[in-house]
Amino acid sequence: MSLSLDKNIVLEEINRASSIDDIEKIRIQYLGKKGLISIEMKSLSSLSIEEKKIKGQELNIFKSLFEKELQNKKSDLENKALNEKLEKEKIDISLPPRNFNTGKIHPISQTIYKVIEIFGSMGFSVKNGPDIESDFNNFTALNIPEHHPAREMQDTFYIDDKVLRTHTSPVQVRTMLNSEPPIRIIVPGRTYRSDYDATHTPMFHQVEGLLIDESSNMAHLKGCLIDFLKEFFEIKNLKYRFRPSYFPFTEPSAEMDIAFTKKDNVIKIGEGDQWLEILGCGMVNPKVLQNCNIDTIKYQGFAFGMGIERLSMLKYGITDLRTFFESDFRWLNHYGFNPLDFTSSTGI
Ligand code: DAH
Repeated sequence: MSLSLDKNIVLEEINRASSIDDIEKIRIQYLGKKGLISIEMKSLSSLSIEEKKIKGQELNIFKSLFEKELQNKKSDLENKALNEKLEKEKIDISLPPRNFNTGKIHPISQTIYKVIEIFGSMGFSVKNGPDIESDFNNFTALNIPEHHPAREMQDTFYIDDKVLRTHTSPVQVRTMLNSEPPIRIIVPGRTYRSDYDATHTPMFHQVEGLLIDESSNMAHLKGCLIDFLKEFFEIKNLKYRFRPSYFPFTEPSAEMDIAFTKKDNVIKIGEGDQWLEILGCGMVNPKVLQNCNIDTIKYQGFAFGMGIERLSMLKYGITDLRTFFESDFRWLNHYGFNPLDFTSSTGI
């Protein structure tokens, strides 16, 4: 070949590669800015049209062969690495269970137990609802108008004329339609949105709260949430703030933030001058009460909603949301809880 590159030498070099790093080095050596193939490519411009055609063709054939061989070798090395890893992590599932403590409670479950325990002590009972909801319960009854962005396809998973609930709020509607006030419930459960990145997973958990009676007001709502967060994080002087916000189903609406500091990548909660949004809340919008056949002259109340994963990450120092759902036994062993190892209320 008229090329200064020797096919056999190059192929031999690829063949000798023993790691992904080697592959990358070879790729740069030939295809990088100053790589041998790149230099040959550049040198084409100084040739006559006839020479350019012949050498250009040869070079292209050589380049495709090079890329194909490099890719094959890379896949081989990746497969080999994966097989070695799998071999090392082999679990003999035919062995009998060795000890009762092997099973761990997932941090999400632990967080839900803790939330139930705290709100339970304030007189809230637990309600559940289905993951597949009607559009009415998930949106319309909650005063989320037809054109609201939350209804758009990219956020909501649709199943025929139903939706995978995008929040736990539809259980407010179910409860109000099926019972008489006073109502005092919390609703922990799974929720779904079509979103996936470092801070969003398509399935996540929320806890909803709803209180309806004849006299509860914003001050009661605030007291209730402040007490909850102090107890949950076990911080007596937790620094917090309420910010005005907007939700279609509450009026007025607010969001609650807690203070934090970050030192050496470790987050410390409850003090400092940075803020983390922790929940949404407000007085239930009379339109929602009307949609649920509640007498708005007699009754009023408040509601709140928060993300379980966020509570869990902050309390247990878990930094990557996606690890909650990877079912990695080593992770669960580290972050999980022993079945009977449940701390009860501190009375903060
Ligand atoms: N449903 C809201 C969400 O998913 C959270 C929320 C905010 C619930 C305010 C409430 C509330 O009940 O009052 O983002």
